[in-house]
Parts: sequence; C-alpha cells; structure tokens
Amino acid sequence: MRISLDYALALLPLLPAAVLLCDLLDNPLPIVGGWIGFIWSGKWVGVPLHELFGDVDVPPVGTQLLAYLILAVLGLVATNSLVPKIKFYTLRKGISGKDLGKRGTSIADKEIPEALGIVPGSIFLICLILCLVGSATWDPAKLLVCNSALLSICFMLFLGFSDDVLDWPWRYKLFLPTVASLPLLCCYNGSTSIVVPIQLRQFLMQEGKLTQFGLFLCHFVTVDQKADGAIVNLGLLYLIYMGLLSVFCTNAINIYAGINGLETGQSYIIGCAILLHNLVEIRAESASLDNHVFSAMIMLPFIAVTLGILRHNWYPASVFVGDTYCYFSGMTFAVVGILGHFSKTLLLFFIPQIINFIWSTPQLFRFVPCPRHRLPRFNQKSGLMEPSTFPCDKRQYRWLKLRPDDVEVANMTVINLCLQILGPMSEHNLCVVLLGFQVLCCGLSFLLRYKFAQLIFDE
Ligand code: UD1
Ligand code: MG
Repeated sequence: MRISLDYALALLPLLPAAVLLCDLLDNPLPIVGGWIGFIWSGKWVGVPLHELFGDVDVPPVGTQLLAYLILAVLGLVATNSLVPKIKFYTLRKGISGKDLGKRGTSIADKEIPEALGIVPGSIFLICLILCLVGSATWDPAKLLVCNSALLSICFMLFLGFSDDVLDWPWRYKLFLPTVASLPLLCCYNGSTSIVVPIQLRQFLMQEGKLTQFGLFLCHFVTVDQKADGAIVNLGLLYLIYMGLLSVFCTNAINIYAGINGLETGQSYIIGCAILLHNLVEIRAESASLDNHVFSAMIMLPFIAVTLGILRHNWYPASVFVGDTYCYFSGMTFAVVGILGHFSKTLLLFFIPQIINFIWSTPQLFRFVPCPRHRLPRFNQKSGLMEPSTFPCDKRQYRWLKLRPDDVEVANMTVINLCLQILGPMSEHNLCVVLLGFQVLCCGLSFLLRYKFAQLIFDE
C-alpha cells in the first residue's frame, strides 16, 4: 500500500510538465512511422552523417521534443534495469557504504553498493550524445554548446566517481567545479546585463544623472544611462557569478543529503520544475525559444534516468548514488541554467538548498565544529530519526542552544532543523516531508517568476 502511494507521489511533480508536453508534441504515429520506414529502407547505409542530414530542415519543436522523449523513455528503462546489475560490480570492488540511518538494526552492518550514480550518469551521457548527433547535424552551430555541456557534465561525473573512490578533501571539491564550468562560460553568448528592480533605480540615477552611488558602481560595472539606470551590465562579474553558480549547484545537493532518496528525490523535483519552465516558455514562443528547447533536450533524459535510480535509492535504499550522482546532477542544472540563459530563475528552484547552505555555513567554514557526517541519528528504541549533534562545553555556542545547560548542539542542516521543528519521525516520512517542502518551494518559485516579477521589473 505504502509503495503504491510512493509511486503516485513520485509522479505528482512530473504531472504539470507531462500535461504541457503532451500538448506540445506532434502526432507521434506518422513521425515514428517515417523514421522506421527510413531505417528499414537502408538508404542511410554508408552515407556520411553530414550528407545524410545536410539538406534536412530543422524539424518542428513538437517533433524534436518527441525524439527527446523517446530517448528519455529508453534511458529510464535502461537505468532501471542496469542498476541492480551494476551494483554487484561496485560491491565486488569494495565501493560500498553502511546505511548510517539503520544503526542498531539487523541490516546495520550490511554493505550497500555506493557510487551507483555512475549508471544514470553514463546513460544520460549516451542519450545526450545521441541528441547531439541529431540536433547538431541539422544545426551545426549547436555543436559548440552541446559539446561544452557534454564536457562539463562528463568532467563532474568523473570527479564525483573519483571522489567516491578516493574521498577528495573539500578544497578540491570547491576548486574543480569552477574548472568544469569554464567550457560553458567560454561559449556563453547571452547577455551579461541584469535588470535593476524599479524600486532601486532611484539609487543609481536621478533626473537623468548618475547619483554618487551610481558613479561609484561605474568603477566595477556599466550602468546603462540611456535606460535610466534600468539595466546594469555586470560584464566579467556576471561570468564569475555563473562560475560560482556551478560550484554552488554541485555542492548544494551533496550537503543536503544523507537519508534514503533525498539526493535523487530533490534532483528529480528540480528537474521537473526546470522542464515545466522550459515548456511554458516554448509554448509562449518566447524570444529565447531555442535555449529552452536545448534545456528541455537535456532535462528530459535527466529526469528519466533520475526516476530510474530513484526507485532503487528510495527507502529502504538498495543502492547509494554517491557523490557521483550529486555532482552530475548539480552540474547538469548549472549547464541548463547557464546555456539556457535562465540562471536566476534556476536559483529560485534551489530555495531549500540555499537555506541549507546558509544555515550550514558556520559548520562549513569551521566557526562551529563539523563532524564527518551530519545526517540525522537513528533512535533504535523508537525506530525514528532524531537530530544528530556534536558535543560542546556548557558555556559554548549559547546562541545555538535551546537550553543553556546543553552539552551538545544539533548539526546545522535543514534535515536536522526539520526534525527539531516537527519532532522525530521515520526516515521514510522525513524524506517525504523534505521533498514536499521542495515541491512547495518550486511552486512558490513559479509564483515569484511569473506573477510577482512584474511588480519588481517592468518587463
Ligand atoms: C555529505 C555531508 C555529510 C553527510 C553526507 C551524507 C556536509 C559537509 N557533508 O558529506 O554531512 O552525512 O553527505 O551523504 O554536509 N549515507 C547513508 N544514507 C543515505 C546516503 C548516505 O547512510 O541515504 C551514508 C553512507 O554511509 C554513505 C555515505 O553517507 O556511504 C556517503 O557519504 P559521502 O557522500 O561520502 O559524504 P560527503 O558528501 O562527504
Ligand atoms: Mg556525498
């Protein structure tokens, strides 16, 4: 009963995007029939790709989406069936971990295969390469962005897998995503300007002249005086911001983790939200239609492979996805945000991760002790999860304590915060509550993006 309820819950985040997608797709029967007929005819044998697709017009968006959807479904089936097979290979090589949320139970010492994110990651890359073959042959200009996306995601998948095997120190984890984002930044051809909120423009310009603050800002950025301070070109600073976005996305998912299904669940919900945003923009035929089709091309197989592994990572997890998956998913989001030119909207979908990061900073920057694992503690007697803690002196960290005499303080993560506010609960329910919060935040982001943005920006 609980499992079928979980399946129903899992489809909920995808539902709005799925409805919109069905509306946008072209009639699949004649299109797929045409493709099968072409393959069956054998006319393609021995013909170089550029000749084969050279004279072909760019297919309509509905047909492109149909092709990406078919690939995604194949990716879902492949991931779902390969994970149970590949987990024996990682176990055999000793790439495994103990489920810390089951301490004191009969399965506490069971070795759970780790780093299984390599399966969805690799299948996603295969899907993306096939998309690239299709889309880049009819539009060679796409090759550059497709290749840079592939390079960045591939690099992070490699870094994540090597981290699972070698346990990199934190300084590498911060530095390497910056390098991985360079291919994206090099081929970024979008605007580096931001629109200033209506309420703040008076601080930059008044009566057609720059204010003192505006003049000061001009040392670092370009204030567009013709637009009356409405537009500020950040130039290089914008590229630095996008580099930092990659570092944030990759690490934010990794530190908001530790209970079964949370890494994959949050990525799945964010992926669905991004796809919905893309489809809304595609349907509205927005000015950046191409960018949103590109992003949907990446998001469809991503959601599919994530759904494929979520089933195995869900409570009680039979596999761990490892840093391999966290880095791969974080970088995929950064790629679509940067190359799809919606990096600010992307950040709106990361509200729980931003709160978790801000709340974690005292521990991350060692103002407060940070144990190796901050995931919640399993209480054997009650069978429920409780906030995990670190020991301290009675006089220390009073600002963090509920009672001044406490000799331990709860680790500063949103997962523990949730348990502190709502009380102890089972690992399964904790994950559902946190994912529910993610869905709520994504819903709120759509409200902010499509309703409240007009109050702040006039376009
Ligand atoms: C990050 C977090 C750490 C958290 C860990 C869990 C920071 C600074 N680091 O570290 O606090 O404990 O992720 O992913 O916030 N595990 C489970 N159940 C799960 C998932 C993981 O018990 O559902 C345990 C397993 O023992 C697994 C290990 O976590 O082997 C993986 O930890 P790892 O990804 O190496 O930790 P970090 O990413 O370094
Ligand atoms: Mg991790």
